[in-house]
Amino acid sequence: MSFIEASQLTKVFRHDIKEPGLIGAAKHLFTQKHVNKTAVDHIDLRIEEGEAVAYVGPNGAGKSTTIKMMSGILVPTSGSVKVAGILPYKNRIENAKIIGAVFGQRTQLWWDIPIQESFSLLKDIYAIPDSVYRKNMQDFTEMLQLDEILHLSARKLSLGQRMRADLAAALLHNPKMVYLDEPTIGLDVSVKQRIREFIKTINRELGTTILLTTHDLGDIEDLCNRLIIIDHGKIIYDGTLSAVKDKFARERTIHFQMQKPFAEPPSWLNQLPGVELHGIADREIALRFDRFRVTASEVVTLAMKYGEIIDFRMDEPDIEHVIKRVYEGSLELDDVKLAGESS
Ligand SMILES: Nc1ncnc2c1ncn2[C@@H]1O[C@H](COP(=O)(O)OP(=O)(O)O)[C@@H](O)[C@H]1O
Ligand SMILES: [Mg+2]
Repeated sequence: MSFIEASQLTKVFRHDIKEPGLIGAAKHLFTQKHVNKTAVDHIDLRIEEGEAVAYVGPNGAGKSTTIKMMSGILVPTSGSVKVAGILPYKNRIENAKIIGAVFGQRTQLWWDIPIQESFSLLKDIYAIPDSVYRKNMQDFTEMLQLDEILHLSARKLSLGQRMRADLAAALLHNPKMVYLDEPTIGLDVSVKQRIREFIKTINRELGTTILLTTHDLGDIEDLCNRLIIIDHGKIIYDGTLSAVKDKFARERTIHFQMQKPFAEPPSWLNQLPGVELHGIADREIALRFDRFRVTASEVVTLAMKYGEIIDFRMDEPDIEHVIKRVYEGSLELDDVKLAGESS
């Protein structure tokens, strides 16, 4: 059995439709109009203990909803998810003992009391043994530089300070599982770096399982050995970061060095669909092609037919570009389908 097991996990939200104005209000009394929005759509997922997994996708893809079901905040519409053998939305108390969660948008700290006192309250709530509490306070204070903020209330903290305090609060009871929903959003580079180091240490040294949503490629590169992409409530990719480019980067560029210089763009280019001129200068020509339509060897063969090739090299696909398209929601469905077929 895996540590996290989601099976056909689904969440449908019901949106009531209100029509504006008096007539709309009156209508609303009589016609109960609503539409259903499937936020998470029959997800199957397994995560092993100790993994650090990035969960990414465009806004509205269903990331937060998935995490809310896993952390017991929302009840699935259908399907199920178990964490360490527990149904989080049923066994809430048992679940709370083994998980920690940070939602980047809002704090879980008490607004008006000093951070230090919030931590003491958490110690009582979670019945954290003295020794564990003392060790964690010491380690976390050092790693997250909490010294300067322990005496302040959450209300007084900057976003970066608050996020550091929130992370410490979420991990004080040594949870086995941590959900981090956009923990670095809006933070400057140095705070980001500190938070990444902290998460990495927790994962590597304590074996804490991490599920992280982020809009930051650096977070994924630094922390996660596995990447899951969700789009329109469905998982469209589950694998390593480096393999994602092989799946989704459809454009490749080949640079040729030819024996003879070109006077003008060669006319043979249009003989292959999906190939276009990327650059031309003297004896060098760069051709960009869509590898779902034509293979590299077809492009090379074509060039060879029309001139002697001295040398050529192919550009590595650009992972940043692929991830950017993931966040923008502009991975075309074609890409996904074709990528699936080619594997
Ligand atoms: N409480 C809610 N009530 C109604 N619709 C919701 C609610 N929470 C999320 N949604 C909708 O579900 C979809 C997925 O949202 P969410 O899980 O927050 O996406 P993400 O975290 O990937 O940006 C969106 O269309 C969103 O509008
Ligand atoms: Mg979200």
